[in-house]
Amino acid sequence: MRVQTSMGDFAFDDTGRGRPLVLLHGFPIDRSMWRPLTPPIRDGWRVIAPDLPGFGESTVRAQCSIADLADAVFAVLDAIGVREKIVLGGLSMGGIVCFDAWRRYAHRIAAILLIDTRPNAETAEGRAARYSVALSVEKDGPKVVADSMRGRLFALATPADLQEQWFARISAQPRIGTAACARALGDRADSWPTLATINVPTLIIVGDQDAITPPDLAKEMHTKITGSHLAIINGAGHMPPVEQPSATADAINAFLGYLVA
Ligand code: MLT
Repeated sequence: MRVQTSMGDFAFDDTGRGRPLVLLHGFPIDRSMWRPLTPPIRDGWRVIAPDLPGFGESTVRAQCSIADLADAVFAVLDAIGVREKIVLGGLSMGGIVCFDAWRRYAHRIAAILLIDTRPNAETAEGRAARYSVALSVEKDGPKVVADSMRGRLFALATPADLQEQWFARISAQPRIGTAACARALGDRADSWPTLATINVPTLIIVGDQDAITPPDLAKEMHTKITGSHLAIINGAGHMPPVEQPSATADAINAFLGYLVA
């Protein structure tokens, strides 16, 4: 589906009926990463998964910030008439967008789902590396990011053909949007202090073999978010929804069941 908003034109998947669950993809990929989840999200939930600005089929911006990504999510929700509180979930960069959203849109968030993400800001060195990635992407395309993630994005046993399918999808993302969001990640805020302010039900999911945002980091976030739940997905790296879709869906569904219990 597509919608026009004050922040541009957005593509999104919209499935099921009921309370809204909004899922935000990682970098640099698009909403298709949520489609493998099976069994599907339980009855009673409407799953809305947008392509964030710069990715997939949404508006590409030459410049953007993490705050712009969060604003775009709520612009989409406004445009399609979702006014009730949402469960907001995100993987990696999507989780970083969740932290920003919590700082500015907490009144619209009923619960949070953080998947293989991290709350830290970049160091000066990390920021410079992100800016350097942005330049490489502008020159050679997002394949450079896919190549840099080889050996790190997936668990060792994740089938090679599945890995190649997702590396191809990363390589096909818009060049300008990917570069802009590499810089946005470089400039992101420190969200560690935000964790202590989260006072809605929160589920943290992490692949047991995630080499990018490892389980120890998820465990640390778990200690900082009062009352949060932690699910470790065996046999997954940084992309549990595509590597272990059944176990990931089970963890999400158990959390959603807890929310309505
Ligand atoms: C992601 O999956 O969003 C990326 O791994 C984020 C990052 O590069 O830190």
